Amino acid sequence: MCGIFGYKGKGDAVAILTKWLQRLEYRGYDSAGVCVVNDDNVMYRERAVGKVAELSSKLQQHKDRSYTRGIAHTRWATHGGVTESNTHPHQSNDGKRTIVHNGIVENYSKLKKELEKKWYEFHSETDTEVVANLLQEHYDSNTANMLETAQILQKLIRWAYALLIMHSDHPDEMIAIRLWSPLVYATNTAWEQFFSSDTQALAGYAQQMTYLEDGDLLHIQGDTYTIYANGEVTKRNIEDFDQEALEASKGDYKHFMLKEIYEQPVTVKRTMQWRVNFDTMSLHADTFHGMGNEDYKKIVTVACGTMHHVWWLWTYRLQNLAWVPAYAEIGSEYENKPFFVDPSVLHMFLSQSGETADTLETLKMVKEQWGKTLGIVNVVWSSIARETDNGLYVRAGTEIGVASTKAFITPSVLMLLTSLFLGKRRGMRLTKYQQIMRELQHLPAYIETVLDQSDHIRSIAMDLIQYEDFFFLGRGYQYPIAAENSLKFKEITYLHSEAYAAGELKHGSLALIDEKFPTIYNLPHDEMYEANLSNFQEIKARKGKICVIWDKRVEEADRQITIPETIDEIYPFLTAVAGQLLAYHVADLLWNDIDKPRNLAKSVTVK
Ligand code: AGP
Ligand code: GLU
Repeated sequence: MCGIFGYKGKGDAVAILTKWLQRLEYRGYDSAGVCVVNDDNVMYRERAVGKVAELSSKLQQHKDRSYTRGIAHTRWATHGGVTESNTHPHQSNDGKRTIVHNGIVENYSKLKKELEKKWYEFHSETDTEVVANLLQEHYDSNTANMLETAQILQKLIRWAYALLIMHSDHPDEMIAIRLWSPLVYATNTAWEQFFSSDTQALAGYAQQMTYLEDGDLLHIQGDTYTIYANGEVTKRNIEDFDQEALEASKGDYKHFMLKEIYEQPVTVKRTMQWRVNFDTMSLHADTFHGMGNEDYKKIVTVACGTMHHVWWLWTYRLQNLAWVPAYAEIGSEYENKPFFVDPSVLHMFLSQSGETADTLETLKMVKEQWGKTLGIVNVVWSSIARETDNGLYVRAGTEIGVASTKAFITPSVLMLLTSLFLGKRRGMRLTKYQQIMRELQHLPAYIETVLDQSDHIRSIAMDLIQYEDFFFLGRGYQYPIAAENSLKFKEITYLHSEAYAAGELKHGSLALIDEKFPTIYNLPHDEMYEANLSNFQEIKARKGKICVIWDKRVEEADRQITIPETIDEIYPFLTAVAGQLLAYHVADLLWNDIDKPRNLAKSVTVK
C-alpha cells in the first residue's frame, strides 16, 4: 500500500527518507518521490515511476546532501495513471506548497472545477494536486497563515486522507492532517521529528511516538508541535517506541501462517478501504479502472493452486451477479488445449507471486494471439504484472507462509467487489447490491468471530489426527472453498484429502465412506442447504463421520464449527477461514514444519 513520510532534523534527509521508502517497499506501490529542503530554503524534488531503486538512482546523481527536512511518498495510483507527473510530492501552481497524500479526496472533481474557473492549471490527473492548489487559493485570498489555511482545508475536503504539507514561506513549519488513513508522529532526543504512515519504517530512528486520530491536525513550529482537534488544541498519548515488537517477525505467533490467518480482518479492511465508501454504499470507480470499459462477451481466468480457487469462486459470482459468462482454467492445463483467442474475450491471470511459470506461459501464448489480458497480482512489478495489458494489485502485503491464507481471502474480496462493479454496470438489482455491501462491511468482524474459535477447532483437530483420508464437500459457492480447504489441508498436514461437489459423491466416490473416512462439510444455511441435507444423510447412512462448518445446527453432525449467519456471497470467506484454522491445527499437532511444508515452494517458477 502507499506510504507517507516526513522528516525534520539535522541529518541527511535524502538518505533517511529513501531508507524508509525501501523499508515499506514490500507493501506494493507503483511510483515514489521525495521533496527535500536545506537550511537556505533551497528545494529539490525527485520522482520516479517503478521501484524505489529507480528513484534512488536519480537521487544519487544529485550530489548535494545538505537537505535537512522533507517529505516522501510511495504511491498506489487511485486517480490518474502510473506516470511521473502523477507521482507525489505535488505542488501548488506557485510552487510554494509541496504535499504528499495517502488516500482519496472524494469531492476533488467539484473542487478542481472551481479552481479551474480561477485559472489554476493542473499538471497531473490526481486528486492530490487539487489539494495543493486549494491551499494556495485559501492562503492567498483568506489568510496568510499556514495553520489556518490547513484548518480551512480540513473543512473542504472529504474522506479519506493522510496529508503532509510544507510551505516555502514557512521553512520552519510542517503540517500533518489525517482522516481515516493512518499517520504517526515521532521524535527522538536528537530533536529529530518524523511522520510515517507505518511505525515499522521508523525503527532505529524514533524513540517516542504519537498516533494521530481521525480529524487531527499536527503543526510543527521549530522543535515544538501542537495538535488540534476540531480547531481546539488537544493532547494525544506519547508512547515509547517498542522497536523489537515492531520488527517484521512472527510476534507472539508460533508460525507465520498463523500470524497471516489472524491478519485477515485487517487485510480485508485494507482491501476494501480504498475501493468502497460504506457511508454512501458506493464503489470508487477509479480504483477499478484496470478493468477497462469494454463489455466482454466472456472472461477466461487462468491461475494455479490456491489462486485457481479464487477464480473458480469468482466465476460463480460473476455469472450470478453480473451475468458475464466466465470460465476458470488451470495454468498448466490451459496451455495444452488448442485455443483460439477471440478479441471479445478477456483473459485474466491471477497470481500471488506474479512469477508462476504455468500461468506466465499461458499469458505469453494468449499475447502471441493478440488476446486482451489483465493481471491480478500481489507482488508489484512481478513478471505477470509487467506482461499483462492492464491490472489490479491485490495489496495483501507480503505473505511468508508457503500455504496461502491472506493471499486467498484478499483477492477473493477484491473479486467480489469487481463483480459488484461489473454487476452495477450491467444493471444488477439494487436491493441485492445493497445487501452485499451491508454484509461486506461486517466481514472483518465475522472473520474475527471465526478466529475466536481457534481453541475449539484445535480440539476437533485432536480428534481428526487419528484418520488418514478425508473428503471435503461443498455445493455452489462452497465447492471451490471445499477445494481450497482440501488443498490447504493436504499441503501442510500431508494427509490424503479430496474435494468433491457434494452432489457428485453419490456417483461413485461414496464407496470409500466408512467410519474411518471422515468428511469436512461446508454447510452454511445458503440456497443449497436443503439439497446438501440429502447428501449429508447419505454419508451418515454409511457410518461416515462428519465435521460440519455451518451457521445453524443440524443435530446429527459429529463435530461442528459455527460461523456467523450471513448471506450466500459472504459465507465462502468464513468457511475458508475455518478451513485454514483446521488445516493449521492438524498440521501443528502432527509436528509438521508449517511455514516450510515439504516439496513446496512459495514461488513456483518451473513448469
Ligand atoms: C497455496 O497454498 C500454494 N502455495 C499454491 O497452490 C499457490 O497458490 C500456487 O503455486 C500459485 O502461486 P501464485 O499465486 O504465486 O501464482
Ligand atoms: N489519490 C492519490 C493519487 O492517486 C494518492 C494515492 C495513494 O494513496 O497513494 O495519487
